[in-house]
Amino acid sequence: MKDMTYPPAEDFVGHAHVDADRYAEMYKQSVTDPDAFWGAAARERLDWIEPFTRVKDTNFTLGEVSVKWFEDGVMNVAHNCIDRHLPARADQTAILFEADDPETPALHITYGELHEKVCRLSNVLLAQGVMRGDRVIIYMPMIPEAAYAMLACARIGAIHSVVFAGFSPDALANRVNDCGAKVVITADHAPRGGRRTPLKANTDAALLHCSDKVRCLVVKHTGDQISWIDGRDVDVKAMMEQVAPDCPIRPMNAEDPLFILYTSGSTGKPKGVVHSSAGYLLYAAMTQQYTFDYHDGDVFWCGADVGWVTGHTYIVYGPLANGATTLMFEGVPTWPDAGRFWQVIEKHKVNQFYTAPTAIRALMGQGTGFVEGYDLSSLKVLGTVGEPINPEAWNWYNDNIGKGRLPIVDTWWQTETGGHMITPLPGATATKPGSATLPFFGVQPVVLDPQSGAEITETACEGVLAIKDSWPGQMRTVWGDHERFEKTYFSDYKGYYFAGDGCRRDGDGYYWITGRVDDVINVSGHRMGTAEVESALVAHAKVAEAAVVGYPHEVKGQGIYAYVTLMNGEEPSDALQKELETWVRTEIGPIAKPDLIQWAPGLPKTRSGKIMRRILRKIAENDYGALGDISTLADPSVVEDLIENRKNKG
Ligand code: WT7
Repeated sequence: MKDMTYPPAEDFVGHAHVDADRYAEMYKQSVTDPDAFWGAAARERLDWIEPFTRVKDTNFTLGEVSVKWFEDGVMNVAHNCIDRHLPARADQTAILFEADDPETPALHITYGELHEKVCRLSNVLLAQGVMRGDRVIIYMPMIPEAAYAMLACARIGAIHSVVFAGFSPDALANRVNDCGAKVVITADHAPRGGRRTPLKANTDAALLHCSDKVRCLVVKHTGDQISWIDGRDVDVKAMMEQVAPDCPIRPMNAEDPLFILYTSGSTGKPKGVVHSSAGYLLYAAMTQQYTFDYHDGDVFWCGADVGWVTGHTYIVYGPLANGATTLMFEGVPTWPDAGRFWQVIEKHKVNQFYTAPTAIRALMGQGTGFVEGYDLSSLKVLGTVGEPINPEAWNWYNDNIGKGRLPIVDTWWQTETGGHMITPLPGATATKPGSATLPFFGVQPVVLDPQSGAEITETACEGVLAIKDSWPGQMRTVWGDHERFEKTYFSDYKGYYFAGDGCRRDGDGYYWITGRVDDVINVSGHRMGTAEVESALVAHAKVAEAAVVGYPHEVKGQGIYAYVTLMNGEEPSDALQKELETWVRTEIGPIAKPDLIQWAPGLPKTRSGKIMRRILRKIAENDYGALGDISTLADPSVVEDLIENRKNKG
């Protein structure tokens, strides 16, 4: 069967930054002469305090892994995102803020205002003793102050680590402690979908488990009652009024870390992905411009949360580096009703809109009635990210939002990659629904044989996805654990960056991501380590053992399926199930709450005691015909039991 192909519309190609020929030409140069390609791009797109003399210095050899770009250059990220735009754009909107409540007037924050706010917040941080290289945790609602906080850190050379506001106090404490943060910046409450998450109370609970030297900077956003610890807590807005409105930029080395972002892996606790200053920013800016065909004056909306990498790169750093107008949305797609996205697009005449398949599926389920009546004619490009997009969701997006006339860019990338890796360019690439299509400039994807690790050279093939050489946006290390960095990404397949995804390449050389090949599941476009949920479950006094796998979920893509063996003498009950769900929510956060808990008197194990997850996955998927060889199990009868129980769940 031939895949449906959607070539770019002719009138679009006419004014796009890059057409098919230009893509081919630029791509070729980017991989044959990366020094020339990236050197020119970095000189053109970034302002340097001291120019770099060396472009690329990277090594993927296990034991010697090292990634450096523009290593002797000196620059500052906040200067590149704000100050240098002031002569031309002081009065242009930098951040367009749309609050949770549609009745709240939107804010148009100009580059001039952004400069002052960021300077003031920088001075507040300096007054708290935050110095170059210090870590600052940002645990915030989706409000402009979150962006100010990130940029203030960049301005003074501190390293920020944003923790998604949906994470629990325990998860927050782990991150504060892992990176040794000096300061946590938070807010009183985070309004979302008409509800309020008590961020300050969560931070209070987290800080009980942290050094008592950690300061707590609080943005009073909703004005609700909060508790206050004198001497530790600082009222950010009040302090910002008292400090100077200007703050000099700190010259930083290109390779100085800009931020740490924690992400789940297949083993152990989340790892702190470290991104650089210059290479990351360059890659963010370039992908934001080309992937979305962003033009000066456009209004760009990435609907992610700044707690994830998508928000870092495509709400804050990429757009601001390009002098764009970036929309920041505090709310959710389904409140007050499922027309909220489309209402915001109409209201602010959004030109590029970027969201996740899970959001599309959730809205699709509410029917087209919520779209009709909104004027979406400002839209030029639609994007998706987070997981492979299923045909139903693609068609719905294309028909109802794109009205059959807009390019849809399906962007494959990861927290670790900093920006888009495999993606269509809307003026250049014919798209095929469900395929992330072709590599971005400088990216050399390869398909490896999962067993031998050999590169498959046939165009049409299937295997694991790896990347052959470095690109400027690549993560540099795992915070505090370079060995873990090497082991996680460079040890399974020697000489390559291994992404953890499987993929298929079709006869046209298009990439189709088939999902994770490790024990990581993708829940609503967010990565969840099954080991993390398991260790949360077994930390409960009544749980003896737990095994967590993913299973197909209509809206989330993958749901969390937990097999739980109780301690001797404990009886399964609905109440206990609720208790365990709440337990996981408080240990990690609402996103980790199991969708299904199955009581498992025994788990399928090999004679050496290893849990056979393959079997558990199949049972969770309701696919009992394909269990494979179970004769090596210590006790094959547990499988019958599990299947019986699974059937009862429907
Ligand atoms: C994993 C990375 C990068 C932002 C969002 C998630 C999956 C991401 C796609 C896509 C198929 C995708 C992969 C990847 N993924 N985008 N367009 N098509 N799969 O970031 O939490 O670091 O997760 O998300 O499995 O490895 P993340």
